[in-house]
Amino acid sequence: MTTGRKGIILAGGSGTRLWPITMGVSKQLLPVYDKPMVYYPLTALMLGGMREIAVITTPEDQPAFLRLLGDGSQWGLSLTYIVQPSPDGLAQAYLLARDFLDGAPSAMVLGDNIFFGHGLTEMLQIADRRDGGTVFGYHVADPERYGVVDFDDQGRVKAIVEKPARPPSNFAVTGLYYLDGEAPDRAAQIRPSPRGELEIVDLLETYRAEGRLQVERMGRGYAWLDTGTHGSLLDAGNFVRTLEERQGLQIGSPDEIAFQNGWITAEALAARAAKFGKNGYGAYLKSRLKEMS
Ligand code: DAU
Repeated sequence: MTTGRKGIILAGGSGTRLWPITMGVSKQLLPVYDKPMVYYPLTALMLGGMREIAVITTPEDQPAFLRLLGDGSQWGLSLTYIVQPSPDGLAQAYLLARDFLDGAPSAMVLGDNIFFGHGLTEMLQIADRRDGGTVFGYHVADPERYGVVDFDDQGRVKAIVEKPARPPSNFAVTGLYYLDGEAPDRAAQIRPSPRGELEIVDLLETYRAEGRLQVERMGRGYAWLDTGTHGSLLDAGNFVRTLEERQGLQIGSPDEIAFQNGWITAEALAARAAKFGKNGYGAYLKSRLKEMS
C-alpha cells in the first residue's frame, strides 16, 4: 500500500521539559524501551503508506538523525532532511517543507508521539482518502496539557483550543495531522501567537472555518502514548516492553513494516537482520522473516 501523500516527521524543539537528559541528545532519539523514539512515529507514517518522508530537526541534531535513519533506502523509503533553525511552532513545518511537498497532501507526525492499536492502518487509510484536513481525537485524563476539541451539540467541531485552563472536552488532538496540499499556503497566512509560535491550532482553524476539518475519534482500544515528562516516557517504555514480551512481536519496527508493505525484499530483510548480528533485534527480524515468508 502506497499513497501520493507525503510524510513529515517534526523532530525539532528544545526538549527543555526533559532537561538535563535532552541537553546532550535530541528528545526524539531517546530510547523508548528497545528503540529510538522516532521509530514509532516513523512507522506510523509507514503504516499509513508513506514512502517519501521529510525529517525536520534542529541544526545541531541533524547529523545524529542522519546517522540513525540514513537515506531510508534500507526500508524502501526516501528520506529528506530539513532543518528548523529555531522552534517557532508546529505550523512552521509546512513552510519549511513547502518545496519537499511540492503541492502534495501530507501527514505530519510529531517525533515524540507513539500510536498503537488494532486497526490503525485502516484508520489512516480512511484519513488518506479524505479532502481537507483530518486530526485524531483521543480521550485523556489531562486534556489541559494538549490541544483540545470543543464539540457542539451535534458533535461537530466548534474549535480546537491549545492547552485550555478549562478544557471543553476530554478529547485531546494527537500529534498526527492529515492536511491537503494547501497547508503550506495556509500556514503562510497565519500570524505568530502571543507566545511567538505559528500554532497548529490556528492552521487547523482555517480548515475548520470552511467545514473542511474532520476529527476522527481514536477509540479506547488504541494507545496514544505521551513522552512529555520523565514519568510518561518511562511508562511508554514499559508499555512497549509489556506488549512485546507478551506477544513476541515488536511495536514500531521499520524493518518489519517495510517488508510487510512489500517495500523491501526477503533478501534485503535478511541482510538487515545480519547487520544486527546476534543481538535481540537481529534475532527478531530473522524470526519474523521466517514466519512471514
Ligand atoms: O502531542 C500532541 C500535542 O502536541 C497537541 O495536542 C498540541 O495541540 C500540540 O501543540 C503539541 O503540544 P506540545 O505541548 O507537545 O507541543 P510542543 O511545543 O512540546 O511540541 C511538540 C513536539 O514538536 C516536540 O517534540 C518538539 C517538536 N517541536 C515543537 C516546536 C514548537 C518542533 O520540532 N518544532 C517546534 O517549533
